[in-house]
Amino acid sequence: MTKSNLPGPKARAMIERDHKVISPSYPRGYPFVMDHGKGSEVWDVDGNRFLDFMGGIAVVSTGYSHPKVVKAIQEQAEKFIHISSDFYHENWIRLAEKLDEIAPFKEDALSFMTNSGTEAVETAIKLARYHTKRSNFIGFTGAFHGRTMGAVTFTASKAKYHGGFYPLMNGVTHAPFPNPYRPVLERRKGEDYGEAVVRYIEDEILNQILPPKDVAGILVETIQGEGGYIVPPDGFYPALRKLCDKYGILMILDEVQCGMGRTGKWWAIEHFGVEPDMITSAKGIASGMPLGACVARKSVMNWEAGTHGNTYGGNPISCAASLATIDLIEKEYLQNAKEVGEFALDALEEIKARHPSIGDVRGKGLMIGVEFVKDRETKEPDHDLTERVVDLGYERGLLMLSCGKSVIRIAPPLAITKSEMEAGLKIFEDALTAAEKA
Ligand SMILES: Cc1ncc(COP(=O)(O)O)c(C=O)c1O
Repeated sequence: MTKSNLPGPKARAMIERDHKVISPSYPRGYPFVMDHGKGSEVWDVDGNRFLDFMGGIAVVSTGYSHPKVVKAIQEQAEKFIHISSDFYHENWIRLAEKLDEIAPFKEDALSFMTNSGTEAVETAIKLARYHTKRSNFIGFTGAFHGRTMGAVTFTASKAKYHGGFYPLMNGVTHAPFPNPYRPVLERRKGEDYGEAVVRYIEDEILNQILPPKDVAGILVETIQGEGGYIVPPDGFYPALRKLCDKYGILMILDEVQCGMGRTGKWWAIEHFGVEPDMITSAKGIASGMPLGACVARKSVMNWEAGTHGNTYGGNPISCAASLATIDLIEKEYLQNAKEVGEFALDALEEIKARHPSIGDVRGKGLMIGVEFVKDRETKEPDHDLTERVVDLGYERGLLMLSCGKSVIRIAPPLAITKSEMEAGLKIFEDALTAAEKA
């Protein structure tokens, strides 16, 4: 059903107030003004109900205001809201113990808690330099790692993130991310495209530009998020691991968006059978309370007391929300993400067969990208169509977000039911049909 009055009068009035006092740098999409949410649904201030396929950009993992998460927050708030990270508290310890248990490597894990994803990445960058005593890094085109000075240097999904902010951090060289739908490098016979990218890094970067003995780490989003929900080919991570081992370079995975059960496994890297040295997490880790973590092998996180810290690290309320979130993911939503994700991928393949404007459907679990093209042969991205589908979806009661040049990301709460997914995909196809006609 089309909602013809969007934004409603209350939303319009609030947006006007917002524009007078909030930084204009925020990249606002359509004019949705939140009132409240429950599970996978949200209501705007004018009483319009929407199904949510973006979950606060892959954050609201357990759905909006899950009662167990709310209870954990309330109970903790009544006890204490803050204690300086110079001291100790149990939920912080319990969370680190849990992260040690689920970390994607056999070695014991130590965690540094942060307020956000970008701070987790910043932590990983500093730790890599400190531990290796080397200063340079390799990142990837299309990457998004955040907006603080170190992380934003690696971010390479839009030139806008760098424009006006130079000089950035020294010592970051970008390699092409292995996008199997849009390869930019030649493959040798028998070589997987991921292996071709790793060969490029060794031959063209490490041999010709950046001596490996000066490289502290390679930082990569295991599945690229903002850059277009891109799953690299199977050969990429095994080859990258070998390269890192050969030269003593740390393999640092940014799983801020793709981790914490989103892909149907705790960590996206588990789909590739490789163990990293460090991993960053945030977003879905605490259902929306601000929390991130840099989780490293114990032998890597060897910095001395006082070298790195923060005021809010291990915030008691965020840790309590995270423990409740992880428990729910473990007991219910890991499996749900896998099952509903597979159902959605199959359904989207059928939709693709009916709509030539869809060039590619890909993803793992509930991290799914649908890429729109003007022509399947030339693969020219259709940015305008993508934005029209998002807008028309909104008018029909479905919240979606784009990413990359012409991709719609489907990243609902991990708690979404199969029937909600079915209903959402129906709205998605209606919106696409209308957008194609327009
Ligand atoms: C992969 C990845 N890394 C880092 C970040 C930065 O996280 P935050 O916005 O919490 O700073 C994001 C945010 O979208 C992300 O997707």
